[in-house]
Amino acid sequence: MKTVLGVTGGVAAYKAVYLLRRLQDNGADVRVVMTESAKKFVGELTFSALSGHAVFSELWAANGERSAHVQLANWADAVVVAPCSANTLAKLATGLCDNALVATVFSAHCPVVLAPAMDLEMYRHPSTHRNMEILRGYGYTLVEPETGYLASGLLGQGRMPEPETLLEAVFAAVTPKSLAGLRVVVTAGPTVEALDPVRFLSNHSTGKMGYALAAEAARRGARTTLVSGPVQLPAPYGVERLCVTTARQMFDATTKASVDADVVVKCAAVADFRPANVRTTKIKKNDAPPVIELVPNPDILLELGKNKKTSTTLVGFALETDDEITRALSKLRQKNADLVVLNSLRDEGAGFGGDSNVVTILDKHGGQKRLAKASKSEIAKQIWNHIIEYRKGTWA
Ligand code: CTP
Repeated sequence: MKTVLGVTGGVAAYKAVYLLRRLQDNGADVRVVMTESAKKFVGELTFSALSGHAVFSELWAANGERSAHVQLANWADAVVVAPCSANTLAKLATGLCDNALVATVFSAHCPVVLAPAMDLEMYRHPSTHRNMEILRGYGYTLVEPETGYLASGLLGQGRMPEPETLLEAVFAAVTPKSLAGLRVVVTAGPTVEALDPVRFLSNHSTGKMGYALAAEAARRGARTTLVSGPVQLPAPYGVERLCVTTARQMFDATTKASVDADVVVKCAAVADFRPANVRTTKIKKNDAPPVIELVPNPDILLELGKNKKTSTTLVGFALETDDEITRALSKLRQKNADLVVLNSLRDEGAGFGGDSNVVTILDKHGGQKRLAKASKSEIAKQIWNHIIEYRKGTWA
């Protein structure tokens, strides 16, 4: 992704350095445009050294280059201005095109993301909100500043969001909206079943695959709810997250969220059993070794399959260690799913915790597609491509 990073004058300019890095980590080629005031906060050299390109900031340079702002804007797949000062917001909203940054934004045909960041009263000022509204009307993405301590020491809204959030906003802006208008529910992570106040039964799921699926659905324009067991991941950008602990809580949250869903993806590693009795006090080791009686948890996918509407696409996951295809197909049929994504723990690069996955997608008509080892976010994209094709009836 070819990205222009515009930096304006504000304390948050230091965070733009991290954003540049995160964009590069995700494969972007980044060129930086700075206003003169931005250079009072972070040196031009930092951005040119890290981006590997000269910083563009002199609109009137007589260096023989033809309309550098037009060339840069035509080159870009995305433009992100972070931080975007009140001054630059006003210039963009009113068409005051007197510097390299505004000229580049105005020349762009690609998605534009603006991250306003300023002090409390400046952000509260009606003029700032009017300008943001105007810019939304132009089709730009405005990422709201966060609330917290500001450079002035005041507490309130105005902080530029963290680079990770802005990175997601850029991805969302450039992703075609292939799930627009659809309501998607994804489940992710393990469930945790208490045994006593200290111990629990659970599994090794980290939620990475389910979170990648929810993030990708939101990027593609779906109204996305993620029902998540306990994991160490932040909520993906643009996703409504419902946090649960036990299988029964996940059952309640998922069935409720799925009532009007077009696609439900059951990626969670739900504990099949829970202790029949949860002790109220800690089990002591000097007591006789306990025999833990277990009772079955509800099978969420099975219940969703029983009540499935014909317009809903139900996608299950199957984690297997042997006789994988046969077992996954039997789950698909038994639970009335449309598609099942098979993970085999025998595949190198598949399974819990890692950043990659290897899966085979099976459909209820007998179709089968193996996706080669790739990052979980890449696998998520491919799974969504298959779900979309399946819904159109074009999946072979
Ligand atoms: N699943 C579910 N509720 C459960 C157990 C599983 O919704 N109580 C869902 C999972 O989210 C997954 C699919 O069913 O989409 C298959 O889960 P998996 O753990 O592979 O299989 P199980 O059905 O639990 O069967 P087994 O443990 O015997 O392999």
